[in-house]
Amino acid sequence: MWKDAQPSATKLAEYRPPDYRITDTELSFEIAEGVTQVTSTLQVERAAESGASEPNELRLDGQDLELLSVEIDGRRLSENEFAVDDDSLTLFDVPARCSLRIVTRIHPEQNTALEGLYRSKSMYCTQCEAQGFRKITYYLDRPDVLSRFTTHIITAAEGYPVTLSNGNLTADERLEDGRRRVTWHDPFPKPSYLFALVAGDLDVIEDVFVTCSGRNVVLKIYSEAHNIDQCHYAMSALKRAMRWDEQAYGREYDLDIFMIVAVEDFNMGAMENKGLNIFNTSCVLAAPDTATDSGYQRVEAVVAHEYFHNWSGNRVTCRDWFQLSLKEGFTVLRDAEFSAAMNSPTVKRIEDVSFLRTFQFPEDGGPLAHPIRPDSYIEISNFYTTTVYEKGAEVVRMIRTLLGDGRFRQGTDLYFDRHDGQAVTTEDFVAAMEDANAVDLGQFRRWYSQAGTPNIEIQQQYADGTLQVTFTQSCPATPGQPEKAPFHLPLAIGLLDSQGRELLGDASGGSSPVRVSTDATVENPNGDGTLVVQLKDPVTTLRFDGLQARPVLSPLRGFSAPVRLQGFSDGDDLRFLAEHDSDGFARWDAIRQLQSRSIHLLREDAPGDEVAGLVALYRRLLDAALGAAVPDTDDAEQKAIYATMLALPGESYLHEQMAEIDVDGVHRSRDALLAKLSATLFDQWLALYHANTTSGPYRPDPTDMARRSLKNVALHFLGMADDESEQVAELIEAQFEEADNLTDRLAALREILELRGLNENRRSALIDSFYDAWKDEKLVVDQWFMIQGARRAPGALARVLELERHPAFDRLNPNRVRALYGGFCGQNLLHFHALDGSGYAFLAERVLDLDDTNPQLAARLLTPLTRWKRLDSQRQGLVRKALQRIGSNEGLSPDVYELVFKSLGTQEGDG
Ligand code: BES
Ligand code: ZN
Repeated sequence: MWKDAQPSATKLAEYRPPDYRITDTELSFEIAEGVTQVTSTLQVERAAESGASEPNELRLDGQDLELLSVEIDGRRLSENEFAVDDDSLTLFDVPARCSLRIVTRIHPEQNTALEGLYRSKSMYCTQCEAQGFRKITYYLDRPDVLSRFTTHIITAAEGYPVTLSNGNLTADERLEDGRRRVTWHDPFPKPSYLFALVAGDLDVIEDVFVTCSGRNVVLKIYSEAHNIDQCHYAMSALKRAMRWDEQAYGREYDLDIFMIVAVEDFNMGAMENKGLNIFNTSCVLAAPDTATDSGYQRVEAVVAHEYFHNWSGNRVTCRDWFQLSLKEGFTVLRDAEFSAAMNSPTVKRIEDVSFLRTFQFPEDGGPLAHPIRPDSYIEISNFYTTTVYEKGAEVVRMIRTLLGDGRFRQGTDLYFDRHDGQAVTTEDFVAAMEDANAVDLGQFRRWYSQAGTPNIEIQQQYADGTLQVTFTQSCPATPGQPEKAPFHLPLAIGLLDSQGRELLGDASGGSSPVRVSTDATVENPNGDGTLVVQLKDPVTTLRFDGLQARPVLSPLRGFSAPVRLQGFSDGDDLRFLAEHDSDGFARWDAIRQLQSRSIHLLREDAPGDEVAGLVALYRRLLDAALGAAVPDTDDAEQKAIYATMLALPGESYLHEQMAEIDVDGVHRSRDALLAKLSATLFDQWLALYHANTTSGPYRPDPTDMARRSLKNVALHFLGMADDESEQVAELIEAQFEEADNLTDRLAALREILELRGLNENRRSALIDSFYDAWKDEKLVVDQWFMIQGARRAPGALARVLELERHPAFDRLNPNRVRALYGGFCGQNLLHFHALDGSGYAFLAERVLDLDDTNPQLAARLLTPLTRWKRLDSQRQGLVRKALQRIGSNEGLSPDVYELVFKSLGTQEGDG
């Protein structure tokens, strides 16, 4: 059969329900060295409503399979009763109801793409989302086909003592030929993407969780023996997540067993397979010497995220992959709420917004912009994007803000109740929210179909006790969407008087009341000083009467909507908010603007009063942070907020704030500001450092984490102080040698990599000593590769090339590849964007190389080359050249093909 030269697009508008159902799926895996035989027995029923042109024809998905036989109701089909091509098996004459048996062979040992069944070290495991099941057997590999699965795993007597699949263990037998056969049955119908299998020689830790209705659930976490001691934190996180989901969403776990397996080679972070979650080791293992504080938080968040999918994703699943945000956006919100409840809620919000602005905003403003519910894709793996995930979570969060917590919960209750066991759409989710609360989210639905980051332009006029504020919304054009209709969005605002007192809402009690008049809906949901204004029109005006003096507006508390603000930039107001806003997010947001502005002014050699004002603000914040270090006023959350405020924004964050990115200027002036803050406030940084050492054994709790982050922010500023270099080098080396945890050790090593005054032999010796001490801990070695990839001294690319030749570099392991290339291309921006094009050319070569073994990994690594739109014209030319170099190759995977051609703007995605 003739095959398209270009992969073709799948479109939401062309969705059709399946013509057949598969009520029961019985799989038998015979695993042997080099080859696995899969026998699949499917109970198939034609859908009554089927309108297919060939109603007796059944087309099953399948890729890279060796087909051995097909039987219908026990009769083996001859060659002319079916047809096979590269991605399907079509049976020409299928009864309305029958039993279908298909035998295939696969080669997991050769599967370097890590999709379907593959081997990782000594274990076999699966990754089926989104379309990996079709690499295991022929099937209706689409999420709206739900089936009850029974899985038999047959292994040699030796070598694979642990064999797992979804659901409950129902049999463990010895076959006549000596092999072992283990059987699992999952009573909950599920789509194929939630199928999982694991076979290997694994250790396990066990615990029990008693659910809210009093049922016992056995919890097991499996890993290779040498890692099993690092699984306890994940176990405790799992129990916290299970309890939280009962309390916050009324969701109880349903099976009697819940398992997690840690795998070293994994394309993603983790996967929510029913009852058998499979995790990248990086998202489950945690010990003081092998995980940083943020590593611990990541483990807690990912364990929770995958667990939460049991309801938001598994019990209620997606009709088709355009609905991905239905499960991912919602579940990201749920895990964020959980992490906020376990740690500092304000810092969690700050981190999430920082991530959104750094990664999602550029996606939404570039050639790959798409709505959270895309309407077309070539390769679905490419749509696990920050837009679908993080903006998707922001959209659900806005629904929560608009409805209020109680009514949002009524909406989710109705959603879970109404759609349990179904495969549904984002429209069903919004409809449940409306129906539970008798509200109209008609205009709000545009968030699902329109791409782009809206701008909100703010204008303020104050006179005679009256402040008039005008919000004007607009949204830039995105590919395929030249015009946008206005969005419905909540703006959480406050007004402060010169003493920092709240003037609005129920908090305004004391002074004379301020009256608000507007056509928009305004609510005071929490009875505090924050009002939620609902913008719906292009222009919304608010009038505040009864003011005694010009107040300061706090325009976007808690980042209530994923928008950019414009026209809100008065330096005095921002400095005031940075110190006095009652909303911690708003304080951080204000100082971020001030930092960005100072960096841009330094870039233009026009520091003026602005930079002096920032230095003065830092002096006051440092005093305040030092105050927070006094033992009995030690407030973990305030400290953690100070740490986020004092650290300068990263270069990528700064790039995102610019109309045209000045790579060199941002790098130079950011360093200049660091150096200035370092030199001017040296003694305070030093005091802050010493005030925040921790005592006792390492604890990953909010108090100690906050101390470590303040201490290491201080260390970084100290590291920039050229004048005091000897004293500082000693401090850094002492921290490096004496640290009892990875957070502190790695923070010191990062400084060691950059310290200008350090002798090169000494530097190399320290880098080597770190490797020698931790070479058996793969996740630590990943960090070692990453920070070296990110090292800023001249010669970065040459160092990366040398690190590629290091015996520990492994191009088949995604964590290792992401560490080194991510460090260089994602963090080392000055060198990656080198003006000779060497960084781009390097990445292009590596993408091509990896595309042969692991297309998903290759496509993800390509991301930095898709963000060229606001670079200077010379760099734009160089990036395009690198993209064209990739695009000129034949036999590209659809993954890489789609990103390259959409980024070049030569392909709108419809083949
Ligand atoms: N369902 C995804 C895993 C996945 C992603 C499978 C893409 C196949 C393709 C899982 O729930 C997920 O979203 N994992 C995230 C981490 C999470 C905390 C956001 C991941 O793997 O990065
Ligand atoms: Zn997920």
